Parts: sequence; structure tokens; C-alpha cells
Amino acid sequence: MTFFPQFRRALAEECQPGATVTVVGASDGKFVLPLAEDDHPVIAIESDPVALNGGEVLLPVSGIASAPGLVGRLKDAGLDELVRVVCADFLDTAPGQVAADAVWTSCSWHYSANHKRPLGEFVTRMQQLVRPGGVFGAEFMMPFEYRHEYVEHYTTPDQLARYFAPDEWTVLLRLQTEVFTERAHVGQLRDHKHRMGLLIAKRHPEDLTEGGTRPR
Ligand SMILES: C[S@@+](CC[C@H](N)C(=O)[O-])C[C@H]1O[C@@H](n2cnc3c(N)ncnc32)[C@H](O)[C@@H]1O
Repeated sequence: MTFFPQFRRALAEECQPGATVTVVGASDGKFVLPLAEDDHPVIAIESDPVALNGGEVLLPVSGIASAPGLVGRLKDAGLDELVRVVCADFLDTAPGQVAADAVWTSCSWHYSANHKRPLGEFVTRMQQLVRPGGVFGAEFMMPFEYRHEYVEHYTTPDQLARYFAPDEWTVLLRLQTEVFTERAHVGQLRDHKHRMGLLIAKRHPEDLTEGGTRPR
């Protein structure tokens, strides 16, 4: 389950061909490769060195296996020149150094390592790296179990929309799923349940009219 097609459509409709995209929590490239195949230069930020460089992973049925990482997959696909890989905690990166026309993240901020900082900081940092006229896209885990109610990083499209000031952003799309079952995968060795939300927003272009100097 992913809302990535909706983000791709917004990117095509709102940004120029060849717009740069920063992917926060790039993992081994599920979203980075298709974006680069579409000729988007990508900045791929990921804190897990195994996801980037490959290594041993634990698979649900077959046990330990060797998995390629993002760097190897990009090389094999001949896309490495289009992608800048940043191995870092996104919360420690300077937005100016990873600025782009659009930003995308898929189910990253609910990771427990991010709970030490408020959700608002993660969202604001993502907003800051989007150039005027660009697009913000995030799919994220929504609360549906009792324990989620105590972690603000499990959020809803409506709660997230509050971070988008109307004088700077237009929220283009909010969607959410019902609770669904996902099959076991690396990192989650049993079938498990999720509920997911999506928010896509457009940052207003710079006001280039006479006297209008600030981004709007
Ligand atoms: C669920 S995965 C998303 C990948 C995609 N859904 C997939 O299936 O390939 C989320 C990724 O975000 C990364 N992540 C979470 N918080 C991060 C942070 N603060 N900085 C960098 N990466 C982060 C995790 O390491 C993980 O690889």
C-alpha cells in the first residue's frame, strides 16, 4: 500500500520536468529509483547504513539473506549520477544543504528514534527544504491502537494540515486508508496491521509583483 502515485501526479502537475526531489528515509530505493528513472535528480537521505550499502537482513521465511543497498541498486540501474545519497539522521541535516523542488517521505517519522524530538520539528524541517512553488508529500502511519494515542508521530491528515500556514501553503490532497493487513517483511517478521494517511501541499511561489519581495 502506498500513496506514491498521488505524489508523482502532484509532482508532474505542479513542478517542472526534471524538478529535484529530496526523499527523507530513502531506505533501499523503492521511491528513489522510479523518481530517478523519470529524470528527477534526487537527494536520498537515510540513516540506516545497511539500507544504503547492503548487508545481511532477516527475511520472514528464509532467514538471513544478503540484500543489496540503495548505492548498489543505483549503480546497477545506471542512475547513480542522478542521485546524491546522504547517510545521516534527517533531523541533523541543514535544510539548505538538502533543498529541492519537492520532498517526499514514506512512513519515516514514526520510527522511535524520532520520538525524542517533536513531530513539528520533523515536518518544519521538511517544509524548509522545499523551494517556493514546490511540493511537500508525506505518507505516514495513523493511530489505530491504544499505544499510538500517546505518540504524536502517529498522526492524521487533519492534524498534519495544521502545520501548513495558509499564507505559505495550499494543502492539495488529504487521504487515509482503513486499517489493513500488511504481509511480513524485513524488520516486521509477522503479518501486521497499519492505517496510513497522506498529505500533499504546495508551497506558494515567490511573490514577484512590484513590492512583493517575500515568498508567499
Ligand atoms: C518504512 S521505511 C520507508 C521505505 C519505503 N516505505 C520502503 O518500503 O522502501 C522508512 C525509512 O526511514 C528511515 N528513517 C526514519 N527516520 C529517519 C531519520 N530521522 N533520518 C533518516 N532516515 C530515517 C528508516 O531508517 C527507514 O529506512
